[in-house]
Amino acid sequence: MARILTGIQSSGTPHLGNLLGAIIPAIELSKDPNNESLFFIADMHSLTTIRDANLLKENTYATAAAWIAFGFDTKRNLFYRQSDIPQVCELMWYLNCLTPYPMLANAHSFKDKSSKLHNVNAGLFTYPVLMAADILLYDANIVPVGKDQIQHIEMTRDMAGAFNHIYGETLIEPEVMIDEKVMTIPGTDGQKMSKSYNNFINIFLPDKKLRKQIMSIETSSKAMEEPKETKDCNVFTLYNLLASEADSAQMKANYEGGNYGYGHAKQALFELITNKYADERTRFNELMNNQSLIEEELQKGAVKAKKIAKDVLQRVRAKVGY
Ligand code: TRP
Repeated sequence: MARILTGIQSSGTPHLGNLLGAIIPAIELSKDPNNESLFFIADMHSLTTIRDANLLKENTYATAAAWIAFGFDTKRNLFYRQSDIPQVCELMWYLNCLTPYPMLANAHSFKDKSSKLHNVNAGLFTYPVLMAADILLYDANIVPVGKDQIQHIEMTRDMAGAFNHIYGETLIEPEVMIDEKVMTIPGTDGQKMSKSYNNFINIFLPDKKLRKQIMSIETSSKAMEEPKETKDCNVFTLYNLLASEADSAQMKANYEGGNYGYGHAKQALFELITNKYADERTRFNELMNNQSLIEEELQKGAVKAKKIAKDVLQRVRAKVGY
């Protein structure tokens, strides 16, 4: 049984790019009976940048609601909030004391972030140590992450290796898992869909607002009558990612045949999304309207996570001499 663990950055309601690129594939992976998945909301890492308590809470709930609405099985797996298991801070301290200063100073995500900000806090600096503690506290075997996080996993392995070298085998050195297939989902302007570019589609919005977002997708200016290319068309790309093969082929024929406008294609995309994700949209909104249901799920996850964390920490404490 492999234990798969990953942390989720919560920056608000997950958009279609987050869903297709990360959430749905991770949920698929968790369905393998040979795996046990631990997914958590990294709300302590969020404090390196977020200073608004309500925003922090809302982001956590919206993120959790999306994962639950999309069917992450929280009974068989673990879904929890990082801050509910403060033991992670204790492990972080032990790792801090083994981590060479230059390793953190030279980390590219730190160099990148600190060059852009004028207030560089120590949390940004020790971010990778908290991340290592997130992973090592749960004896994780496999950590699926995006390419930008590979160095953080290498640092985690270094920290586990250093601990094991000094104190004897204690911590599991995790393997990184990169999904090479992960596709870039275009936003409404054709750039990668991202909150920071404000080009995202939020499928959980009410119909009217969702339709408006879809209608704002940029296209070429070809007239209705003209035949159109599917290649590099943002509307077609999104449609093609979501539709069945037969429906995609039909859409391609509509494009190439002419007398089919971008407005028609956008309307079809809107209908596809609202049909395909009807249950998920309802479930998400039910949860957001009754946040105690989300809180209940997170609390159940915290109980299970804490049990693992305490065992591992006990092992570590004995080794360091407590
Ligand atoms: N830093 C990760 C990111 O930006 C989020 C994260 C926090 C994480 N702790 C983790 C990912 C532990 C994997 C394992 O995406």
